[in-house]
Amino acid sequence: MKIAVLGGTGKIGFGLAMRWARAGEDVTIGSRAAEKAIAAAAEATAKCGATVHGAANRDAAAAADVVVLAVPFEAQAGTLADVHDAVQGKLFITAVNPVDPARLHVAILPPEGSATEQAQRQLGAAVKVVAAFQTVPSFVAREFKLDYEGDVLVCGDDAEAKERTRALVEEAGFRAFDAGPLANAYVVEGLVSLSLAIKKVHPLKRLGFRVVGTPA
Ligand SMILES: NC(=O)c1ccc[n+]([C@@H]2O[C@H](COP(=O)([O-])OP(=O)(O)OC[C@H]3O[C@@H](n4cnc5c(N)ncnc54)[C@H](OP(=O)(O)O)[C@@H]3O)[C@@H](O)[C@H]2O)c1
Repeated sequence: MKIAVLGGTGKIGFGLAMRWARAGEDVTIGSRAAEKAIAAAAEATAKCGATVHGAANRDAAAAADVVVLAVPFEAQAGTLADVHDAVQGKLFITAVNPVDPARLHVAILPPEGSATEQAQRQLGAAVKVVAAFQTVPSFVAREFKLDYEGDVLVCGDDAEAKERTRALVEEAGFRAFDAGPLANAYVVEGLVSLSLAIKKVHPLKRLGFRVVGTPA
């Protein structure tokens, strides 16, 4: 499968790109600047031992079956405007958290409810937007260890898109749970500020959120 990671030059996207490349996917790191993407792809290839490609965000998105958004919230609208036409009809996974860089530990969500719903509104109904990876620390994503205890909560309105996302999350080495519709994405996005608030008082490493229970 062809996966484009928009903003894959950055902290979380770079890790996800390497994980999927190691799992055998055809991954392209996207960037605002093609040359930056190509340099990041060469670095990722050297680090993970599997080929990663690089291209400008729009070209990466146009060539992909699945597009992953990994840019800061303040860059979301501009990035989506750039790739809008290239992602129509595709699965679009977003890891974006709408944090305020000045107050990371306080959950502040956009008027649409969540960054994910804002993305869905901007891209239109033909794009299958799914939220995932919001609570995975970037340094964990960049490791090749598979012992992270946190789960990935997946929110979306299209059942098939969510199942494809769950499969990709598991392929990347994380346990994935269907956490309901896009309207639930604000809960997952808010958990990030919660985790940072917890860490201010309880200095935990590899903090995550785990679903527990026994089979019904
Ligand atoms: N860091 C984490 O632990 C983590 C974990 C889970 C989810 N997230 C979420 O994932 C997203 C990416 O996080 P990150 O920490 O990986 O971000 P980051 O490293 O700061 O940025 C990722 C990439 O976004 C692009 N970018 C940065 N500023 C931009 C701007 N003003 N306009 C357009 N593009 C810009 C850059 O790519 P180019 O310069 O190559 O275009 C950059 O390499 C965020 O929404 C974050 O909340 C982060």
